[in-house]
Amino acid sequence: MIAARLWLLTGILASTALAVDQAVVERGQKEEARSCIPCHSLRLIHSQRLSKAAWNKELDKMAGWGTIVNDREALLEYLIANYGDDKPLPAPAMSGNGVK
Ligand code: HEC
Repeated sequence: MIAARLWLLTGILASTALAVDQAVVERGQKEEARSCIPCHSLRLIHSQRLSKAAWNKELDKMAGWGTIVNDREALLEYLIANYGDDKPLPAPAMSGNGVK
């Protein structure tokens, strides 16, 4: 009985943690849409596969060029969740006629 309750509790805690993460990731995506598009396309960002440390450095570099990020923590979570170095590489980009 206790074991069953513990198991249930673990499940609830795990799903809560996941829900929080998802909310943070969505906030990060909004932050990207707000702060990352004035200078270049999102393709430049979405074609990268970087570690957390490398994304952190990248955000420092962009900040040095004048990027103002309000919700850096969420943006970093979003970048790692979608464009981390453990994610599969994107398909090679083609030009309009699909040749190169
Ligand atoms: C103030 C202008 C500006 C803003 C805003 C900006 N960037 Fe950049 N970003 C640049 C420039 C300039 C480059 C270099 C482009 C090139 O090499 O063609 C660059 C390149 C990049 C690259 C390619 C790798 C590299 O370092 O050259 C990534 C990834 C990147 N930016 C991420 C971001 C992210 C994430 C944001 C939002 C937080 C952002 N940028 C917002 C100016 C900006």
